[in-house]
Amino acid sequence: MSHADDHEGTRRDFLYYATAGAGAVTAGAAAWPLVNQMNPSADVLALASIRVDVSGVEPGTQLTVKWLGKPVFIRHRTGAEIQEAAEQDAELAADPLIDTNARNANLADAAALATDANRTMPSPEGEAPGAWIVQMGVCTHLGCVPLGDGAGEYKGWFCPCHGSHYDLSGRIRKGPAPENLPIPPAVWADDSTIKLG
Ligand code: FES
Repeated sequence: MSHADDHEGTRRDFLYYATAGAGAVTAGAAAWPLVNQMNPSADVLALASIRVDVSGVEPGTQLTVKWLGKPVFIRHRTGAEIQEAAEQDAELAADPLIDTNARNANLADAAALATDANRTMPSPEGEAPGAWIVQMGVCTHLGCVPLGDGAGEYKGWFCPCHGSHYDLSGRIRKGPAPENLPIPPAVWADDSTIKLG
């Protein structure tokens, strides 16, 4: 396999999906503006709600969409990933989190703890709890786009810019990033459509 083929293979699961006129999302370690990323104003949010058809997102793959000018990772987890995320939760006493806040815009409690359950979406009927996780694809260090598909020491996402490792729940576990990947407002519009914003 050539180097080019190998490179392509590492990106195989990154599907880039544009909706409602949104442009393609840049992959890898491209710099992404960090300006005001966590706190878009209410009027901007109201204008920038998008619906994403996730019916083709197979377990074990991730869809990346552009929302408010930034990438959002929508991951459909396999049963093995759900199990491994539960195991990572069970090991937190021995390997504490850097950031204990869920950073989930969908929770009423802004101080909710960063358990896996507090960072995953409610599942549509027929799917196991924790089958879907939606988060901003923006490293909380300096704004690069982390690599996914089990990347890094914690098998979640890895930011190669300065070496930040995120776990299967998108929590920062090692490296300079200070916070977990933020979870944007996201709800199921129907069983196969996620509404962002
Ligand atoms: Fe991700 Fe620095 S921007 S580690």
